[in-house]
Amino acid sequence: MRAFLFNSCNVYLCYMKSHNFINSMDEANPVEKKHLGAGVDHTVYPSLKNPRIVYKLGSDYAVQGWFSLFKENPDLFPKVYNMRKTQMRLKKDKYMFNGEHFANIKAGTIVPVTYVEVEKMNTKKAVKEWDILDEIVTELTKNDFGWDFQDFVMSYNRLTTPKYIERLEDLENEIKLEYPEYYKIFDRFKVLIDRIYEVKPAADLHQYNFGYDSKGNLKCIDV
Ligand SMILES: Nc1ncnc2c1ncn2[C@@H]1O[C@H](COP(=O)(O)OP(=O)(O)O)[C@@H](O)[C@H]1O
Ligand SMILES: [Mg+2]
Repeated sequence: MRAFLFNSCNVYLCYMKSHNFINSMDEANPVEKKHLGAGVDHTVYPSLKNPRIVYKLGSDYAVQGWFSLFKENPDLFPKVYNMRKTQMRLKKDKYMFNGEHFANIKAGTIVPVTYVEVEKMNTKKAVKEWDILDEIVTELTKNDFGWDFQDFVMSYNRLTTPKYIERLEDLENEIKLEYPEYYKIFDRFKVLIDRIYEVKPAADLHQYNFGYDSKGNLKCIDV
């Protein structure tokens, strides 16, 4: 998700409602410990209790944008477990959805947030592989279309112009022939991307939004 929602980096825990809640929010509390990663819409924290999960926290609007899709497609996206809601106080002014429309919300305002227990993924491996695929695609298309792997990802199975479709097919064959040791990685990304476009045609896929699960399956961590 890359909409203009508030960045939970800028918020800190405010209210705690119940015992259960205190326990779980202690776990997700962004003030207490370093986060694993943050994008425009979410901040992701490790769990202290369970090394296999992370807490992904964002506005309810942001979280509802992916939760069901993840739940219905656990082979394409990290597994998702409990979803909970809480409230936080904004550390800085933030342009965000106020329940009715987007507006500048003042620091100090208490805003609702939603967080989900999500299967922890190895993102480093996927980031490195993307870098390699980037180099390969750049090298192979330097004399014609000047694409990188991001271009491939955005174009694959979405183009209608025959000369581009043909070029993508050739590119695939060239990778197979000239970089056979990386073809498997390329194919793994390609198959996943293809399946993601089936379930979400408008998916906006980027380098830092992929990871491997503990069994070695490549999945998309953010659409
Ligand atoms: N399931 C996960 N396991 C490990 N790290 C994650 C996971 N989900 C997200 N991250 C980390 O948090 C960062 C931000 O999360 P992301 O889902 O991409 O949020 P945003 O929608 O804000 O871009 C990611 O780039 C990644 O580093
Ligand atoms: Mg992201």
